[in-house]
Parts: sequence; structure tokens; C-alpha cells
Amino acid sequence: KNPFNVLGIETSCDDTGVAIVNSSRQIIYESIQLQHDIHEQNGGIVPSLAMKSHQIHLPRVINETLIGGKLDIVKDIDVIAVTRGPGLPGCLGIGLSAAKTLAAVLGKPLIGVHHMEAHALTARLTHTELIPFPYLTILISGGHTLILVTNGINRHIQLGTTIDDSIGEAFDKTARLLKIPWLKGRGGGPGAALEQFAIGGKSDKFQIPIPMRKDQQRRKEMNFSFSGLKTCVQQLIQKQNLNLEDEQVKKDLAASFQQIVIFHLIDKLELAFEWCKTKEIDLNALVVSGGVASNKSIRASLEKLANERYNIPLISPPSHLCTDNGVMIAWTGVERFREGLIDEYNIDHIPKWPI
Ligand code: KG4
Ligand code: ZN
Repeated sequence: KNPFNVLGIETSCDDTGVAIVNSSRQIIYESIQLQHDIHEQNGGIVPSLAMKSHQIHLPRVINETLIGGKLDIVKDIDVIAVTRGPGLPGCLGIGLSAAKTLAAVLGKPLIGVHHMEAHALTARLTHTELIPFPYLTILISGGHTLILVTNGINRHIQLGTTIDDSIGEAFDKTARLLKIPWLKGRGGGPGAALEQFAIGGKSDKFQIPIPMRKDQQRRKEMNFSFSGLKTCVQQLIQKQNLNLEDEQVKKDLAASFQQIVIFHLIDKLELAFEWCKTKEIDLNALVVSGGVASNKSIRASLEKLANERYNIPLISPPSHLCTDNGVMIAWTGVERFREGLIDEYNIDHIPKWPI
């Protein structure tokens, strides 16, 4: 059937996302239930509360998506796609059970999606043209920090990841340390709040060492390390007896932190670009996705690197599709269905799943 419609369900972490995307690269409808309000007061995601919220809201979000898209699940939906992993086990299970039941009862094809592949493929849906493979993907979010060569559907090479905290955690922990309140709504959270804060700050005000530069071995790795940054900011505050009541001090700290994060990203991306050159992989683009990709300073620096040094475009989905959502799962369902990558009705979730 052409075009075909895919219903996508995402419940791997703290967003209940559902969407319908068709094989002509159109988003028919999307709906999302965020959990920021639940998790903010706890200073981070509480798995049991995330699970409960998915349980409460998922059926309604699916219903809203079908009604919003004016589509009938029996007649108009051709494939059910769902995040199979990686993610929080309890949360994944809720989406997976719903998707498996729908698919099995209705006799529709089921596709279990790798959440990270979905982040990496979303740009092929949202960009004006279908980006040809291969391209370099950098996934920067609360859960993951990855550099991938995206050679095709189900064909990714992981070049690097974090050896400790994710980049999102680094933003979140530093924001908490600086007592910056969360921004509300979609694309919000502590990272976005820190970015806003950094706008009025001087990025060279404080000396924070760039991670992994000192150790010669680590320097050559395409991995990241973010856990030292928060500690460094913490020590700066203590040693210099900085006053966090002073807004300007906080802004300068935020800007300095963000700048070092950017330098670290660029260090490792340069290594990745050089690796691709030695393997004669002719990259078509640098794709950036994940929640942190909505950071404008990071985006601008990556754009400069891609355009000026490597002569390729930087491509990124719109902010609301860089964070977790149902659209990316539905689109990956489209891509995988075309390749015949269909799953059995008895698949289980895979909380830790290398790409
Ligand atoms: O992709 P995402 O929504 O979910 C996970 O995979 O976890 O990413 C969420 C992360 C959080 O750590 C959040 O603080 C961070 O992305 N984030 C940002 C910005 N917007 C969201 N970090 C830096 N700057 C931003 N503008
Ligand atoms: Zn994600």
C-alpha cells in the first residue's frame, strides 16, 4: 500500500509521545504528554513516577492522535512502531505492551524501534530533502552522548560515547549547582534554562579545563567525559568563594561551562571526521539531534565546524523533534517497514541496547 501510515509510540523515558507519519514523509498528527512538572520537584526523573504517568496517559494520547489525524486504526493505520530500547525498563514496557496488543489484535505489522536510531533518522523526515547516507550523527541528550556514522537503516557505526555522564546530565547537574530554575514546557528543563542564563555571561571569565586533553591516550579517543565539569564548577565556587546570589557570577559560570562543553564536542567531532576520511567514508552531512541539540550556541559552533572545515551542511530536526517524541518512532517505522524489518508479536524490551 502506498503511501502507508505508521503509528509510532515512544515511552522510553519521561515523554509519552504518539504520532502518525506516512511514507510520503508527512506528519499526519502528533501528540505528546510531558512529565516535567512531575520530575522537577525531585530534581530528576523518578522511574516509578515516569512509569505511572505513561500508564495513565498513553491510551488517551493514542486516542487523541487518531482523532487529531482523522484516521481509523483499523482501516487507515498500516504499521505499529514502538520504542523497544534503550530506556527505562518499566517505561519501555508500557509502550511496548500497548503497541504489541494493538498490532496483534488488529493483525498489523509490528516494528520495535531502537530509540537512538530514531533520533539519527528523524532528520531524513524533517529536512527539505531526504538526506542520503552516509552521514555523521551526533546525539546529544539526557540519556546519551553518541557519535555515529549513519550508513543506512540498521547500519550505524558507533565511534564514541560518554565514559561517564551524558552531556544532558552535565547541563542538568551544573544548572542545579547554580540553582537555575527549570524552564517549563516542551524543550524546557534545566539544560535550556542554563543556556538562557549563559546568554548574558562571559564565557572566558572562568578557567575550566577541556576534558580529556591532558591524558595522551584519552586525547585520541572519540569518547566524551562530562563528569569532571560539574566538579570543576563546584570547586571554582568553593575556592574563589563565589557568591551565587550574584546573577552575573552565575551567568559567567554558566557561559564558561557551556563554552568548555562546546570545545570538548568539537575536539571529538574533529577526530570523527578524520576517522571517516581515513576510511574513505564520504559524508553528506553532520546531523545533530537529542535534547541538547536545541542549544543555539552548540548548534552555531557545530555549523561552523561542518561548513567551514568539512564543507558539509549541519542538519538538525526542529527543536521539538530533537527531544523525545512519537514522530521519530513512526518515521523509523516507515524506514524499517520499507526494508522489510518487521518484528514478531512477542518481542521484549531491551533497556540496554547498543546500536
Ligand atoms: O533528548 P532528551 O529530551 O531526552 C533524553 O534522551 O534524556 O534530552 C533531554 C536533555 C536534558 O538533559 C535537558 O536539560 C537537555 O537535554 N537540554 C538542553 C537544552 N534543552 C534541553 N541542554 C542544553 N541546552 C539546551 N537548550
Ligand atoms: Zn532521546
